[in-house]
Amino acid sequence: MGVSLRNHASSVRSRSLLFPATVLFSLCFFTALIIFKVDEFVTNTKTVVGHNLDPTPWHPFPPKDLNGGSRYDTASKIIQCSYLTCRRSKNIDVPERNISSQSINSGPKCPSFFRWIHHDLQPWSKSKISMDNLMEAQKSAAFRVVIVGGKLFVDFYYDCVQGRTMFTIWGFLQLLKRYPGMIPDVDIMFDCMDKPFVNRSEYGPETKWPPPPLFRYCTTSGHFDIPFPDWSFWGWVETNIQPWDDEFRDIKQGSQAVSWEKRLPRAYWKGNVDVLSPVRTELQRCNHSRKWGAQIMRQNWFEEAKAGYEQSKLANQCKYRYKIYAEGYAWSVSLKYIVSCGSTSLIISPQYEDFLSRGLVPTQNYWPVSLSPDLCRSIKFAVDWGNANPALAEGIGKRGQDLMEQISMDRVYDYMYHLIKEYSKLQDFKPSPPSSAQEVCMDSLLCFADTKQKDFLQRSTASPSSSPPCILPPANMDVIKSFIEKKNRIISDIQKSENN
Ligand SMILES: *[C@@H]1O[C@H](CO)[C@@H](O)[C@H](O)[C@H]1NC(C)=O
Ligand SMILES: *[C@@H]1O[C@H](CO)[C@@H](O)[C@H](O)[C@H]1NC(C)=O
Ligand SMILES: *[C@@H]1O[C@H](CO)[C@@H](O)[C@H](O)[C@H]1NC(C)=O
Repeated sequence: MGVSLRNHASSVRSRSLLFPATVLFSLCFFTALIIFKVDEFVTNTKTVVGHNLDPTPWHPFPPKDLNGGSRYDTASKIIQCSYLTCRRSKNIDVPERNISSQSINSGPKCPSFFRWIHHDLQPWSKSKISMDNLMEAQKSAAFRVVIVGGKLFVDFYYDCVQGRTMFTIWGFLQLLKRYPGMIPDVDIMFDCMDKPFVNRSEYGPETKWPPPPLFRYCTTSGHFDIPFPDWSFWGWVETNIQPWDDEFRDIKQGSQAVSWEKRLPRAYWKGNVDVLSPVRTELQRCNHSRKWGAQIMRQNWFEEAKAGYEQSKLANQCKYRYKIYAEGYAWSVSLKYIVSCGSTSLIISPQYEDFLSRGLVPTQNYWPVSLSPDLCRSIKFAVDWGNANPALAEGIGKRGQDLMEQISMDRVYDYMYHLIKEYSKLQDFKPSPPSSAQEVCMDSLLCFADTKQKDFLQRSTASPSSSPPCILPPANMDVIKSFIEKKNRIISDIQKSENN
């Protein structure tokens, strides 16, 4: 009996303790759950700056150091930027402009090289783009951009070097802002690294067709990759190159300081020689202003950054009659800045094409230089020809600069608009963002940007267009074919005269 009494008393005591214990336990449990959830967000959320993403395996680079603050700071930033920002911002600041279907056909004509859009999309013109076909491209994509109802979603697969992802996505967001309500629903696989991937020789009606549709910044005549304007049009923070319209204006202004005739009568190149580029390696051999008429300078970005980029200002590099363009690891964003100088551009037999390089016509707006058999001799030939025919050489430089002026940001957006529009017509499915994709809006992207990036992004903000996009020339593969033939003929004629 005594035993049972004691039992009773202890059970009353433990029951009275049970309640606070449960509360305490639940509290701990929920705190742990929140910490666990937050931790899960922080270790699983992929971001536009590269959190939780490995570098692309097909083009490795050192991973970024994103741990500026404490773990708590990183967590709150990711939650704030990725999960809370777009919901709040809701596109309210985008005024509805109404570019009617009537005025859409009343715009100016697009530059004629825009017709390459049809060329680049031709592989899918009959077979269309299926979901399976798109998923094939995912294997070599760094991210996937899905636009539905004017909202942009991104599924991140790999990190890209420097700020390429951020500035490329920003470009898409500005396009949506520039032409509200006009961008169709699309699903795009994008690789942000340099080298084209979709090798033409691996695809054909007998082997595998169609090829995977993969967007990137450049292509070659041996690839099916689809070229799209690169990040530098919105600014290249790491090299202090401004958004394109600003940079062009400054270069043009700089170019007006010295007339062509008064410029140094030699060919100039300045850039990074450590990029595994056979052309740039060869070019260093030609560094002799008397013997080859060329001055080749090494750019050291690390030193330039320390010195505030004073030495690398592009606007101050228009002091030479001739400016050399040499491809890097693949295409180089420097092309547009070089051609903007109004100097005669000497372009060394390029293999890669970006969207705008198709506007270049040899002896009209640039002078072609050959890598083989002897690059230095080819440069010397061009310089001697130009110095003997100054009016003609100056004209080439002037038309190059005019072409770059014509390709203002307005036209860059038009190119994006038409490419996306034509591409969207080929999709045989209705785009919808995969569950792993996140909505990205201007505010969420700005939320991740550091001070300098923010400055560049804000300066490259588009505003809604009051006029319709330019009118895309119709598909005509014969025009492109004869353009290529004519170009090859001019180049080979020059090579012949070099050897005489
Ligand atoms: C746009 O214009 C069309 C035709 O002119 C008209 O029917 C439509 O209501 C307009 N939409 C807006 C948002 O103003
Ligand atoms: C494409 O692949 C073929 C065979 O695999 C190869 O010989 C060729 O060099 C590749 N072409 C390009 C442009 O990479
Ligand atoms: C080319 O020559 C100039 C002057 O002779 C020199 O300052 C420069 O470093 C040389 N460039 C390279 C890439 O070696």
